Amino acid sequence: MSHSIAVIKGDGIGPEIMDATLRVLDALDCGLEYEFIDAGLGALEKHGTLIPQASLDAIEKHGIALKGPLTTPIGKGFSSINVQLRRHFDLYANVRPAISFPGTRSRYDDIDMITVRENTEGAYLADGQEYTDDGNTALSVIKVTRKGSERIVRYAFELARSQGRKKVTAVHKANIIKTSSGLFLDIAREIAEEYPEIEFQEMIVDNACMQLVMNPHQFDVVVTTNLFGDILSDLCAGLVGGLGLAPGANIGEKAAIFEAVHGSAPDIAGKKIANPCALLLAAAQMLDHLGMPEKGTAIRQGIRTVLETRSDMVTPDMGGTGNTDSFAEALVEYVGR
Ligand code: NAI
Ligand code: MG
Repeated sequence: MSHSIAVIKGDGIGPEIMDATLRVLDALDCGLEYEFIDAGLGALEKHGTLIPQASLDAIEKHGIALKGPLTTPIGKGFSSINVQLRRHFDLYANVRPAISFPGTRSRYDDIDMITVRENTEGAYLADGQEYTDDGNTALSVIKVTRKGSERIVRYAFELARSQGRKKVTAVHKANIIKTSSGLFLDIAREIAEEYPEIEFQEMIVDNACMQLVMNPHQFDVVVTTNLFGDILSDLCAGLVGGLGLAPGANIGEKAAIFEAVHGSAPDIAGKKIANPCALLLAAAQMLDHLGMPEKGTAIRQGIRTVLETRSDMVTPDMGGTGNTDSFAEALVEYVGR
């Protein structure tokens, strides 16, 4: 079956790592058709807006986008495109795998876990939901809804089930933030009963931080609210050696956007030394999502093998002597075999 997807090459190193990623996807014969759409600095120059309506329409039509990093201009009243996309498409699940790879400055081998972060409510609310009086007192609101909690916890369990994962850990602070975090925990317990074959664990967030650092192998899928998820997903990226290999997806009912977690790296743009792995791993996540997990696995396994055996083809940030193109070439050779 063929799928069509929207592709945003992105700013800075975006086009370089996207070209590398598409070469590998083509070599895998995934039957994907690409519609290239404008967003970011390029779109601003051409259309006077960071994310033109036509690009939003294309994402809506295809339902899937693969996205390179975008530069958000500082100042000038621009709001982050990522936040705009999340709000426009109600992308409620931020899904961040953390997998250890050889050659990274990873503290542990064999970490393979996923953080599922609620992406639309919690402590990160739209403007106008924070209060201050005379500048001496400030009040921020945490919003947790039954609908928001049910859908994120269900998403985490469905993901666990579809990937044969064994355990879901709900991370919370219900002992202190009793109403909002308490509601999230109550709902997590309710939903867990629908999935008797998957072990359910609850963990208070501060303990979860310690456990992740001391004994990360106990985790499989972690589900949590927005603020805790933001922090824990970066903690997990750090556990497996940093953002260079960290992919992420923002998933909603009608659209899903897959991207690298890192930014547009203007300091190395145009030098052809950007590591394409994070975007490739995002593409692998996209293939899982599209029902082609064996192709996603081929990318992950390819990266592992190339990192282990071909340092001459690997980018300098991973200790290699190659560049973006040679990394892609080595992967194409691996997956095309
Ligand atoms: P960054 O992630 O672009 O760069 C941080 C450091 O990591 C730099 O030294 C960079 O060279 C290195 N790096 C990043 N990706 C790399 C790769 N694939 N291979 C090798 N080295 C890599 O973060 P920074 O500098 O804070 O942000 C730059 C721009 O990116 C900003 O305009 C920011 O708004 C944007 N950004 C966009 C994101 C997105 O679209 N998802 C996410 C984060 C930042
Ligand atoms: Mg963050």
